[in-house]
Amino acid sequence: MNLRREGRPSPLRLVRARPRPARTVTFDGREIEALPGRTVAAVLWAAGITSWRTTRGTGRPRGVFCGIGACFDCLVTVNGRPNQRACLVPARPGDVIRTQEGTGHED
Ligand code: FES
Repeated sequence: MNLRREGRPSPLRLVRARPRPARTVTFDGREIEALPGRTVAAVLWAAGITSWRTTRGTGRPRGVFCGIGACFDCLVTVNGRPNQRACLVPARPGDVIRTQEGTGHED
């Protein structure tokens, strides 16, 4: 069995994974595919999106930093709930994900 494609081994092929069909979520109104079992951060990364929050003070972009729920850099608004850690929250079919600005609350 050839595990390489385009010169690099595919992680899915290495473990012989057969993921179920992708679901759809939206990010700032844009539909994107979400493979079952992926977190919100993984879904956004797979779609080429690397920042989904801006800081309170200077409005600088943020995305994943630690990837394990410790730093809170990846906060995002999911289904109207701000301050969700994208690296921990599983993406569910139909989720409405929005960029979070500042605290995520209207203030
Ligand atoms: S990336 Fe650090 S908490 Fe999510």
